Amino acid sequence: MCGIVGYTGTREAYPVIVKGLKRLEYRGYDSAGVALLDKDQLKIYKKKGKVADLEEAIGTKNIEGSTGIGHTRWATHGEPSDRNAHPHLSKSGAIAMIHNGIIENYAQLKNELTKKGYTFSSDTDTEVLLNFIDEIRQQNDCSLEEAVRVALRRVTGAYVILLIEAGNPDTIIAARKGSPLVIGVGKNEHFLGSDASPMLEYTKEVVYINDYELAIVKPDQLILKNLGNESITPYVQKLDLELAAIEKGGFDHFMLKEIFEQPQTIFDCMRGRLHSASGTITMAGIQQYAEQIINANRIIIIACGTSWHAGLVAEYIFEELCRINVEVEYASEFRYRNPVINKGDVILAVSQSGETADTLVAIEKAKEKGAIILGVVNVVGSSIARISHGGAYTHAGPEIGVASTKAFTAQLVVLTMMALKIAYIKGSIDGNRYKKLLLELDAIPEKVAWILNHHEKIKTIAEKYKTARDFLYLGRGYNFPVALEGALKLKEISYIHAEGYPAAEMKHGPIALVDEELPVVFIASKDSFHEKIISNMQEIKARKGKVIGIITEGDETSRALCDDYISIPEADEIVAPMLAVVPLQLLSYYIGVAKGCNVDQPRNLAKSVTVE
Ligand code: F6R
Repeated sequence: MCGIVGYTGTREAYPVIVKGLKRLEYRGYDSAGVALLDKDQLKIYKKKGKVADLEEAIGTKNIEGSTGIGHTRWATHGEPSDRNAHPHLSKSGAIAMIHNGIIENYAQLKNELTKKGYTFSSDTDTEVLLNFIDEIRQQNDCSLEEAVRVALRRVTGAYVILLIEAGNPDTIIAARKGSPLVIGVGKNEHFLGSDASPMLEYTKEVVYINDYELAIVKPDQLILKNLGNESITPYVQKLDLELAAIEKGGFDHFMLKEIFEQPQTIFDCMRGRLHSASGTITMAGIQQYAEQIINANRIIIIACGTSWHAGLVAEYIFEELCRINVEVEYASEFRYRNPVINKGDVILAVSQSGETADTLVAIEKAKEKGAIILGVVNVVGSSIARISHGGAYTHAGPEIGVASTKAFTAQLVVLTMMALKIAYIKGSIDGNRYKKLLLELDAIPEKVAWILNHHEKIKTIAEKYKTARDFLYLGRGYNFPVALEGALKLKEISYIHAEGYPAAEMKHGPIALVDEELPVVFIASKDSFHEKIISNMQEIKARKGKVIGIITEGDETSRALCDDYISIPEADEIVAPMLAVVPLQLLSYYIGVAKGCNVDQPRNLAKSVTVE
C-alpha cells in the first residue's frame, strides 16, 4: 500500500529511486513522484499513473541531485491524480514529503491549520501532516527533525514518512509507525524503502526501523532516535535475498513465474523441517509453544484474503488431527469487535507480507489480552513476524504478483506441518497415518510439477470460457476453501464475477444462477466427500450448467460429468488443496491474459494492505 524509496549518497539519486519504485509498484500504482535535492534547490516531479508514466513526463528535464525521495501511490484520501500524487511540497516551499499510511486525525489537524490561514492544493492527509510539521518548525524556529518529533506526538494513524528540506542537501528525515521501513547501509550512501527490494543490488546490510522511531539519514551517518529524542543503536542485519528472486526470469509475468516456482517453494518450505525417513518435523518456533497449543481452549486463526483461505483449510486439518477447537477470523472484523480472548488462547496470524494492517492490529489486541501469538509469515523481518512470540516462516521467497499464489501453497504446507507436529506430540494421530502424511507432503513438489506440465490444456479451457460473465466455484470439506480461493483469484485477475461456495450449500440459493451460460468449477478430487460432490455435479448438469472439474487422475465417474476437466495426481485429502489450487491459479492467469488484463497489477489492488 504505497511504496516509498529514498536515497542519499554519492550517486545520482533519480535512477536509483526510479528503479526502486518500479520494484515497489506492487504496493500501488495510481500515481508516482520524486523529489530531488540539487544543492540547495528542491525539485518535485509527479504524475498520475505508473512509474513509467512519470519517467515519460520527466523526459529530458534536469534530474540531478544525489539526495531524493520517491513514491508510488495506492490512493486512500483523494482520487488518483497529479495533484494528489506524492511528494507534496509544504506551503513555505521548503519541505517535500512522501507518506505511506493513513493519518486518522487529519481532519482535526487540517482544521487547526485552516484557522491559521493555510489552504491546501490536494485532498490528501499527507499534505496536512506536512504543513502541520512545517508550521511547528516555523513557530518554534526549530530543526526539521525536532518539528517531526513534536508533530508525530499529535498524530494518530499509521505512517512511514520521508522528508527532505531545501538548504539541507544531503539529509533525509524518516519516521515510522505501523507501516514498513527498511534502511540499507552502503559505503557513504544510504537507501530507504518499504521493503529491501530497491536496495538489493547495492547492499545486503539493512536496518529494520521500528514503530515510533525516527531516522536522520545522511550519506555517511544513520542516527536513530525515539520520539522522546533518545538515541537508539541501529541493529544492522544481513539480507538473505538475491536479485534474481525479484526479477521475472524469462516469464511474461511475475504471477506466472510464481505459479511455476511452486515445486521449488514448497520444497524450500519443507527443507530442514520435514524428515519423513525418521518421522520427525523440526519447527523450533512451534516446538517451544507445543504445550500451550495442546492445552489451549482454542486456536484462533487471524488473516485476510488468500491467507484467510489458508487458515480455513488449517481449521479443518487442526480439528481433524489435533482435536483442538479452531476458529478462523477475518482480521478486519476481529479487531473491531470485542472478542473474548482468554490468557493462553493461541493466535495463529497468517500473512504473506507480514504487514497487513488489519492482521497486525488484531494480533496486537490479542497479545495485550495475554494470548500467545504465532506468526505464519512469508516476509522475513516484517512487522507481524517481529511482534509474534513464535511461529514459522513460509520461505516462499518474494511474491511480487499482486495476486497471491506461491505464498498460499507455502502457507498450507507450514500449517499442515504444524498440525502434524502438534498431533504427534499430543498423541492424537495414529502412527501410520502420521507417517503416511509425511510421505504425502514429501511428494507434493513433484505432483505440483506434474500439474504445471499440463498448463497448455488449462490455457485451452481458459480460452473457451474467457467471455463468461460469472463463474461459480464449488468444493466440500478441505476443498471448500480452495473453491473460495479459486473464485477470489479469478475476480482479482480477470474482473469476472465469481463466487465460491460449499458445494452442498448451493441448493440453498446459488443454484438459482445456474443456466447453460454459467461455468461451474467443481473441486472434486477423490476424498471422503467424493460421492456427495458427484451428486452436486449431477445437480448442475441437470440444469444445463457447464461443469469444469478439477478431478483426480483416472477418475472416470467425475470425468463423465464434466464439460471440461483438469486432472491432478491422487493425494490424501489433507494435502489435496495444495494440488487442487494450482490449476485454478493457472485458469485465472490465462483468462486474465486472454482478456488483456494487467495480471501482475490488477486495478484498484495493492499487494501489501497497510491501511485498514
Ligand atoms: C489475494 C491477495 C490478498 C491477500 C490479503 C492478505 O490474492 O493477495 O487477498 O491475501 O491482502 O495479505 P497478507 O497475506 O500479506 O496478509
